[in-house]
Amino acid sequence: MNMRAIIKRSVALTCAYYLFDDWRARRRLANGRLETSSGARHAELDIDASLDYVERVYGDYLAYGGVKHFSGSVAEIGPGDSFAVALRCLGGGAKHVHAIDRWVSERDAEAQRRIYSALAERNNLGHLFDGAPGEDTIRGLTYHAGQPAETFFRTCGLSFDAILSRAVMEHLYDPLAALDDMAACLAPGGIMIHRIDLRDHGMFAGHHPLTLLTLGDGLHRRMTRGAGRPNRVLINAYRDWLTRSGLSGKLTVSRLAGIAEEIEPAPWAALDKSATSRAVACVRAIRPRLTAQFKAMADEDLAVAGLVLVARKNNT
Ligand SMILES: C[S@@+](CC[C@H](N)C(=O)[O-])C[C@H]1O[C@@H](n2cnc3c(N)ncnc32)[C@H](O)[C@@H]1O
Repeated sequence: MNMRAIIKRSVALTCAYYLFDDWRARRRLANGRLETSSGARHAELDIDASLDYVERVYGDYLAYGGVKHFSGSVAEIGPGDSFAVALRCLGGGAKHVHAIDRWVSERDAEAQRRIYSALAERNNLGHLFDGAPGEDTIRGLTYHAGQPAETFFRTCGLSFDAILSRAVMEHLYDPLAALDDMAACLAPGGIMIHRIDLRDHGMFAGHHPLTLLTLGDGLHRRMTRGAGRPNRVLINAYRDWLTRSGLSGKLTVSRLAGIAEEIEPAPWAALDKSATSRAVACVRAIRPRLTAQFKAMADEDLAVAGLVLVARKNNT
């Protein structure tokens, strides 16, 4: 058995590894090193799979928001290794897209150029490039690299008609404060759409899927904050935030604990009963080991492993 397998078999050793890894990540950030493999989504996809992914993400945003396109000024948080979704927003009618990222995801510039060229051809977007298609030539795109969402929205002085993210909010070290700042930056009638993956992102692969919720707060923070690993802000906290935000919106469930497949986002009550029963059984199997704050939560809330948050500001 190799060292990695030995560490992964033990929760204590896994925690020790992530403590070290987070310390290393904080040092890298302090030295201004922004490169990360997180968000390198397209690295292992061929061009067709990349294009499918981009269309799925863009199509999901439109469907979740119940809109035909985005207009005005758009913020995309955590775009990862591609601005292709930003390009689709610009092609649909957005005037400007601000891409905000705490890191810079590793990318293959040549592969990205192929994606932009194919999208430009397919959707008639050639006019959006200042020269040959590439990430430096997209008109109307500003990349704010090295800027955590937690500080960007507090200090940017900008107003947005739409704020979008997918698989990002779970990586924020303070997502609820960031949501407050985003709400303040929304223009009247503006919308925010966040698809959030509440799983542990493989930290405790091979153990119970909710093992992350058995760690004390201080330990969890020191294992995750610098490297942007999952923050343990669950559906109850997003629900409370939405209630106090003054925005109108909804939360739907996109994943369930212990079930690998994604589901079409829907309210808990509308989900398949056998799937929700399996997810609740998964929660009950670990409940005695959860820390007090998670023990206090309802089974149904702990059983939600992914969600979509949509919130709109009134027009007045
Ligand atoms: C898992 S990737 C998702 C990439 C892309 N949205 C997708 O769906 O393929 C997470 C992205 O969020 C970024 N990120 C993590 N923490 C962040 C923070 N606090 N503020 C802004 N971006 C962050 C990462 O650098 C990365 O680009």
